[in-house]
Amino acid sequence: MNKRTQIVAGNWKMNKTYQDGRSMVIDFLENLRNTDALAILCPPFIHLQMVSNLIKDMASVRLGAQNCHEAEAGAYTGEVSVEMLKSVGVDYVILGHSERREYFGESDALLAKKIDQVLAHNLRPIFCCGEPLDIREKNDHVAHVAQQLEGSLFHLTPEAIAKIVIAYEPIWAIGTGRTASPAQAQEMHAAIRQLMAKKYGEDLAQQLSILYGGSVNAANAKELFSQPDVDGGLVGGASLKAGDFATIVDSF
Ligand code: PGA
Repeated sequence: MNKRTQIVAGNWKMNKTYQDGRSMVIDFLENLRNTDALAILCPPFIHLQMVSNLIKDMASVRLGAQNCHEAEAGAYTGEVSVEMLKSVGVDYVILGHSERREYFGESDALLAKKIDQVLAHNLRPIFCCGEPLDIREKNDHVAHVAQQLEGSLFHLTPEAIAKIVIAYEPIWAIGTGRTASPAQAQEMHAAIRQLMAKKYGEDLAQQLSILYGGSVNAANAKELFSQPDVDGGLVGGASLKAGDFATIVDSF
């Protein structure tokens, strides 16, 4: 089987003070056993420099941001540019999270611009896609995700696509405790890989790491990650506990 990079990204969302975040990262690094998989810590902007300092000697732990602005720089009060992220050691940027789409009105077209901006600075987007419950119940989930991929990624060249990490996150599974079954995750991951293969060819599609997100925890990670097209996870709630997050990174 093709050896893809195994990745677990921890999305802290809007959680943790500086002090709590710092002690959690120290605790996590002490608990971490698996250094074959890549662990990506995605704290709020204000903690990026602190986490960057703590992980600097760890080749298997990288830094991710939860968002960025689509412009290079300028008069955008309260926003953060990709160049700034890069300057504190960020390698990955989560884009298209359902919370950004829903609460901040981020469209496929805006996300396409953010992806271009991230790639222009040689950072790697973690592009989130996924359907709401009513779409899943109508059995339209594959078409829904296909549209998200098309709207934000399909303008990219094959060289650029090779830098993308995709995270499939069914919205009904995020923060709900209701995980997609391993079979549901596998079905969708295989469908996403097929869509990418159709557009960019089988070889490229086989190289893409596709992560599952939505109520991943220390107890269910192993079974989810054992699915052939599931290359890891994007973890919210369970990434806030050092021991649980280390166990998840150990679950391959
Ligand atoms: P959750 O969040 O693990 O808390 O469900 C996942 C996510 O939003 O990325």
